[in-house]
Amino acid sequence: MTKIQAIRGMNDILPEHSPSWQYLESRFYQVVRQFGYREIRFPVLEQTQLFKRSIGEVTDIVEKEMYSFDDRNGDNLSLRPEGTAGCVRAANQHGLLYNQQQRLWYQGPMFRHERPQKGRYRQFHQFGVEAFGMAGPDIDAEIIAVSAALWQSLGLTDFVKLELNNIGSADDRKAFGSALTAYLEQHLDALDEDARRRMHTNPMRVLDSKNPAVQAVLSEAPSLKDFVNADSVIHFDRLLKLLGGLGIIYEINPRLVRGLDYYNNCVFEWTTNKLGAQGAVCGGGRYDGLVAQLGGKATVAAGFAIGIERLVLMLEELQLIPEQVKRPVDVYVLAVGAELSELSLQVAAAIRTACPSAGIVSHCGGGKYNSQVKRAFAAGARYAVVLEASAEGEPPGNAKLRILDDSGDTQAMAIEAIPAEIQKLLCEPSE
Ligand code: HAM
Repeated sequence: MTKIQAIRGMNDILPEHSPSWQYLESRFYQVVRQFGYREIRFPVLEQTQLFKRSIGEVTDIVEKEMYSFDDRNGDNLSLRPEGTAGCVRAANQHGLLYNQQQRLWYQGPMFRHERPQKGRYRQFHQFGVEAFGMAGPDIDAEIIAVSAALWQSLGLTDFVKLELNNIGSADDRKAFGSALTAYLEQHLDALDEDARRRMHTNPMRVLDSKNPAVQAVLSEAPSLKDFVNADSVIHFDRLLKLLGGLGIIYEINPRLVRGLDYYNNCVFEWTTNKLGAQGAVCGGGRYDGLVAQLGGKATVAAGFAIGIERLVLMLEELQLIPEQVKRPVDVYVLAVGAELSELSLQVAAAIRTACPSAGIVSHCGGGKYNSQVKRAFAAGARYAVVLEASAEGEPPGNAKLRILDDSGDTQAMAIEAIPAEIQKLLCEPSE
């Protein structure tokens, strides 16, 4: 029979890589806690309408990337392609936004039917941060500082770059869109099929074109900058000052428009050149109109999301995952002789009590000393506790503690002394 395989673009995260994920997760939890954000969890399935109304009907995500289906009741549902829409829906539904400020975070799988390649998957994972009810640029600076603090904590600061743009209000973009369409109409010959289609439905997406001929036409096109309203300009300038004050280095990218329709004022992306084509590791911005657009009371908002797979790839390629994080087993307890298996379980339990943060494996399944030691090495243990049978009829009196390196160093000690010895070696603060 043929083996059933995973769906293309949907990855298993195997034990070899899960320590990197856990390490990244723990650093993220620490950073959001430092900034006073609280976790929210919401479903992976929502009404398709939620995404159409928030991300936008004429976006790549809604037009061709959503996993949508009718369920048994005939409701049209979609796997979430991102978290902001569901977060707003949930916060609204439970009254979290009514005259309140909220700092929220989430994490979890998202689904987009894109063409899989390195760093781009059909099921991928995001950390997201959303802040509601704060109108000034200080909250924009804060969320950017949250992302910057994560890079700092992971040792990634030197490998990422912050790009910012001011995309103004929805009305500004409408006016700009009309001007852009009018300009593109005069250069139809140089446009590809995609650009010709988009210039009428969502002209700003033409700016993202990878086609050099289209980019050449765009070099003379009207600029969004000239359509942005005065309040947005003031807001953006103040944001830049705040970032300067925090020592966060940025670059203004007038081409940065983002692939989701709900943004206004400042948008940003953190990119890296360490991942090839999929260089965006984090994207976000303000979305002051979305809560009302989804039926809530008008509430300003800003947020971002980080692609977890892309960060894990970076951390692994740059060898920034600390060695101790990768080690699942600290101590391997082995016993030669079936009569010692009960003792082995008891000794392992005693070590766990003495040293709760360590990973202790008690060998199961018997076997010769050498084969058990091989298992201890394979498990990545630092120490082996070797329990030895005493003379016939006598209770086992001795154990050996072996350091698992090439030296083969062993130290004999009484069994009762083992937990305290391991505690000294592994669990006591070094200073
Ligand atoms: P986004 O730019 O679509 O924004 O996605 C954010 C990040 O998710 C990207 O920068 C990238 O790292 C990662 N990502 C996106 N698609 C894939 C994929 N197919 N495979 C792997 N990683 C991917 C949003 O999703 C917005 N909801 C962000 C936001 C939150 N804006 C305001 N609040």
